[in-house]
Amino acid sequence: MCGIVGVLGNHEAAPILVEALKRLEYRGYDSAGIATVNGGTLDRRRAVGKLVNLGDLLVHEPLAGKSGIGHTRWATHGEPNVGNAHPHRSGPVAVVHNGIIENFRELRAELAAEGLTPSTDTDTETVAMLTEHHMNTGLSPTDAAIKTLGKLQGAFALAFLFDGEDDLMIAARRGSPLAIGYGDTEMFVGSDAIALSPLTDRISYLEEGDYAIVTRAGARVFDAQGTAVEREIRTIQISSASVDKGGHKHFMAKEIAEQPAVIADALRHYLSPTGDINLPDPQIDFATVDRITMVACGTAYLACLTAKYWFEQIARLPVEVDVASEFRYREPPIPARNLALFVSQSGETADTLAALRYCTGKAARIASVVNVPESSIARESDVALPILAGVEIGVASTKAFTCQLTVLFLLAIKAATDRGEITPEQREDHLSQLRRLPSLIAEALEQSDAVRETARKLANARDVLFLGRGPLYPLAHEGALKLKEISYIHAEAYASGELKHGPIALIDENVPVVVMAPRDALFDKTVSNMQEVMARKGKVILISDREGLAEASQGVWDTIEMPDVSDAVAPILYAIPAQLLAYHTAVAKGTDVDQPRNLAKSVTVE
Ligand code: F6R
Repeated sequence: MCGIVGVLGNHEAAPILVEALKRLEYRGYDSAGIATVNGGTLDRRRAVGKLVNLGDLLVHEPLAGKSGIGHTRWATHGEPNVGNAHPHRSGPVAVVHNGIIENFRELRAELAAEGLTPSTDTDTETVAMLTEHHMNTGLSPTDAAIKTLGKLQGAFALAFLFDGEDDLMIAARRGSPLAIGYGDTEMFVGSDAIALSPLTDRISYLEEGDYAIVTRAGARVFDAQGTAVEREIRTIQISSASVDKGGHKHFMAKEIAEQPAVIADALRHYLSPTGDINLPDPQIDFATVDRITMVACGTAYLACLTAKYWFEQIARLPVEVDVASEFRYREPPIPARNLALFVSQSGETADTLAALRYCTGKAARIASVVNVPESSIARESDVALPILAGVEIGVASTKAFTCQLTVLFLLAIKAATDRGEITPEQREDHLSQLRRLPSLIAEALEQSDAVRETARKLANARDVLFLGRGPLYPLAHEGALKLKEISYIHAEAYASGELKHGPIALIDENVPVVVMAPRDALFDKTVSNMQEVMARKGKVILISDREGLAEASQGVWDTIEMPDVSDAVAPILYAIPAQLLAYHTAVAKGTDVDQPRNLAKSVTVE
């Protein structure tokens, strides 16, 4: 949800800002803009649409100056047009913002009483106007910005730049992450460390409520009470390669292809050669846990729904799963022996973070499964389990999903062990299946060309249904979610057994139905449901293993063959054809795979 960047440097800022924004474009791409101070003069350039449009504008209307701020927008307040694009300016003040200023209407009313009227539809402009107003009362730019921060409500990260100030930037964090980068007589700010990775590897993160007065000499950081504080400067390792497409046409293709390697990394990290599951401290003793409450959004929520099957079937541990936006306002009771478990790729999703904060102090333990170890969700958990997927840029989550599933599966085995619900033989069987997963996924990826052919046919559909049973049911939802978000084809998922309770009315010769059915204990039941679809002329795409296809593929529209896999591990493997089907369909339709319309990777607003 919007990316922000700032530089007080020794070189021209515009190209540095645009490069950094490229690495933040996954957060939003409705418009982009930069502002610089050149010889004391503040100026800005803004363009609607992708960053490339801003690049074009800068060719014709370059912007000089070694100090600057930049922004890539996911619109919340006001449609994506140039006027609403950041940086917002009011007199000598320019501001870039990620998040929402919730009380902007009240602040606007206060400004209107002073005869000051906004010229955009955004909440952000109010921040610039208020700061200018404070400067007009005689405050310095720094004091004016600090006074403004005291008046803001909501969740945000902000960077301010001022006319006449070549060596000053104010940065603030409340609810949305902000990193400060330390260079050699240069300073940077960015929504995340990836944005700053080619500029510096020395990073500190502002804590909730912090603001920083940044000059080329360094950053002075203050907490919400205005007390000077030290924030640790860490040397982080994000290779620039991780933000390349690595020879692939899209980030999503690269990230799909990386899954054997990243899952192998996660297994090496958590699973010793002798079968011990090594989790970070403080250890969770599942024998003392009566129930798990799992909360997440989107694809991460679907990982939780899958894990529910594992925790309940393998560890006999009841699990409640909820989407974060519902959970946080439902005010559910949290019994004391509950483990609250939050799953998030970014670790910054606003609703998931709010749900975590609701559970803090109520649940016995707060645990999280995250991809970004420095994220707010990781930092506010008692124990954070990194999924080690590496940077994920494609807006549609792929490798993060399968790594989340891998870590959650290990957690379920650990729970079963702690609770005495699994024999050593069963445990070893599950773990050996998991160890095979990287090579099984590599094998499944070899189906990519065949799936491309299926996808060509699917690309003409208006509606697609996905069916699955047991742990494959959440995966049917994941297949439908992937397809709709990147190909814009309407897709729905149903539990196979639920179809005849209503949705079967949708079936006709124009509706492809993707059936995810490994030859597991529930296979025959799923095949019966599939027959019901075919009897009504539905076009079935059956995804199964060799045995399953041999038994049930007669009369189906198309098939995709997967390697044999155990029932429990199947949902991780079957994520691959679901991802490939969505990817190739989107490519066939010519949609923007990595940056689908209306979406952003990191959803830091409600
Ligand atoms: C879908 C997708 C989203 C995210 C959701 C949660 O492909 O990526 O549904 O899963 O926005 O994001 P995180 O995992 O960052 O909390």
